[in-house]
Amino acid sequence: MEYYSVNGAYHLTLGGIDAVALAEKYGTPLYVMEEDVVRAAMRAYRQSMERFYGGNGLVCYASKAFCCKEIYRIAAAEGLGADVVSGGEIYTAAKAGFPMAKAVFHGNNKTREELRMALALGVGRIVVDNFEELKTLAALASENGVRPDILLRVTPGIEAHTHKFIMTGQNDSKFGFILETGEAMEAARQAIGTLAVRLTGVHVHIGSQIHEAAPFIQAAERMVRFMADVRAETGYTLTDLNLGGGFGIRYTGEDDPVPYAAYMRDVSGAVRQACGQLNFPVPFILMEPGRSIVGEAGTTLYTVGSVKKIPGIRTYVSVDGGMGDNPRYILYGSKYEFLLANRADEAPAGEVTVAGKCCESGDLLGENVPLPEAKPGDILAVRCTGAYNYSMASCYNRNPIPPVVMVRDGEDRVIVKGMTYEQIVENDI
Ligand code: LLP
Repeated sequence: MEYYSVNGAYHLTLGGIDAVALAEKYGTPLYVMEEDVVRAAMRAYRQSMERFYGGNGLVCYASKAFCCKEIYRIAAAEGLGADVVSGGEIYTAAKAGFPMAKAVFHGNNKTREELRMALALGVGRIVVDNFEELKTLAALASENGVRPDILLRVTPGIEAHTHKFIMTGQNDSKFGFILETGEAMEAARQAIGTLAVRLTGVHVHIGSQIHEAAPFIQAAERMVRFMADVRAETGYTLTDLNLGGGFGIRYTGEDDPVPYAAYMRDVSGAVRQACGQLNFPVPFILMEPGRSIVGEAGTTLYTVGSVKKIPGIRTYVSVDGGMGDNPRYILYGSKYEFLLANRADEAPAGEVTVAGKCCESGDLLGENVPLPEAKPGDILAVRCTGAYNYSMASCYNRNPIPPVVMVRDGEDRVIVKGMTYEQIVENDI
């Protein structure tokens, strides 16, 4: 755990602010997001797009990773587009004043209502996932007198090394048209023949938290080849290539992600080479990073409650949050780094299990986690919780979802208010 700052009181600081003071001011659990880290990642992607594709592309922040109005405002201000996957995300983006022409709508089972909403709000690109959706969308578009730009989601038959739940490029997937079986080509033919929509390109997303460039390169090559095949078979030239997201981040020392610039260079090299070989024009490139934009910007603060030592077995350090605010350990066994924000200088005293407060034994945040001797009242910080924590939070056991505070240059502001008990019962009849 090398990259965090500590002040003279040996407290963790986030965005120049004492994390213990944040915990006192807002209570715990608390999600803290460092705005500079988010903006720096957005800029790095944009710059790579300029550098490697001459700006002929659009970086779309995958908002499922962390979705609220403020993140859409920041993405818009940084010149990014957004990947949206539900009516709720579309609604949030629209409410934040996001330029919807720069939004890309995904999903393997978009409802009619969601598609109508996307058409009404002028979502720039809809990624069609299956034949049923192509028909439905065409009918809705005709009804609404609009002709949306669509891409086809293609499943390239690539198994990237990551958790099975977040692998999406293999043939056995609920997403997309399969390349190998000819399904994708059939989809292209049908889409080209469907005049109510305008087929502009193809999309591929092979999975998430991937640490190697090779599967991305392979996917990009297969897609360019497919675009050339579509041209050969139908005479139609596709112009958009959406390469998806999935770039891994460093949660713990076990992770060794490819730096974006290196990844962008290698993938753009592969796209150019494939285009050159096939005499195919270099397409407009879309990318959809989510985790790698917001993940490392987030830290969750908890207060330690009970510490239970079971001799010869383990020590449970229980905190006032858990699977409700971070379900990633119970879902994927995800690993994080932990520290005591109020004694950030102390070396670990041993390994513990960090447990949440839900009535469920599996409600853990980590096992065999090195930590200094924790005491009730300590502030436990979990690093790298900016992606898929708040966005996957639930109020299981009727624990309210914590607030999100954005910090930058010594200033803090609430960007999502904490849920209240009143809100928990609001929809109950
Ligand atoms: N584009 C598409 C079509 C996607 O399905 C995803 C993620 C992304 C982009 C962004 O991927 P990223 O850059 O964030 O890896 N809940 C899981 C992750 C699920 C990812 C779903 N799709 C987790 O907590 O690890």
